Amino acid sequence: MAIRPIHISQPQDLQLVGQALQATAKSYSPYSHFEVGAAVRMEDGRVFSASNQENAAYPACVCAERVALLYATANSDSRPECIAIVAKNAGRQTLQPVTPCGECRQVLREMELRYHAPIRILMCGAGQCLEADSAADLLPGEFSSDQLAR
Ligand code: THU
Repeated sequence: MAIRPIHISQPQDLQLVGQALQATAKSYSPYSHFEVGAAVRMEDGRVFSASNQENAAYPACVCAERVALLYATANSDSRPECIAIVAKNAGRQTLQPVTPCGECRQVLREMELRYHAPIRILMCGAGQCLEADSAADLLPGEFSSDQLAR
């Protein structure tokens, strides 16, 4: 199903969103001042959280989602099951949810294909949260490895 509003009430989800919010404290964002936090829950229950890390050479900036996801899969035998994403602007959580950029959607989707399982995506602003059951819902017309063989 497509991306849709959700009221976060499950303790596991509340905790994951809280961990994403905590992760914004380590954001390195002197250029955008946009502090993004992501928390990835693995199937084994372990959580890896991270924040966006910027660079004076702007294309070298890395989103919170990719820092968290790639660190998680580089350090765990388990698979990503759910990711929570939040952001702060001028020190306050954005009212509206922040949704992953195209490059992060591509990385999320490759992980679903790699582990043969969907990743639930929670995007939480202070005023509204959105949920997607799979990165596939965020990436219609995706590029994937089967196209490399064409
Ligand atoms: N950013 C993220 O970390 N995740 C997103 O989903 C959107 C954007 C970061 C990249 C950059 O450091 C800052 O937010 C502004 O684009």
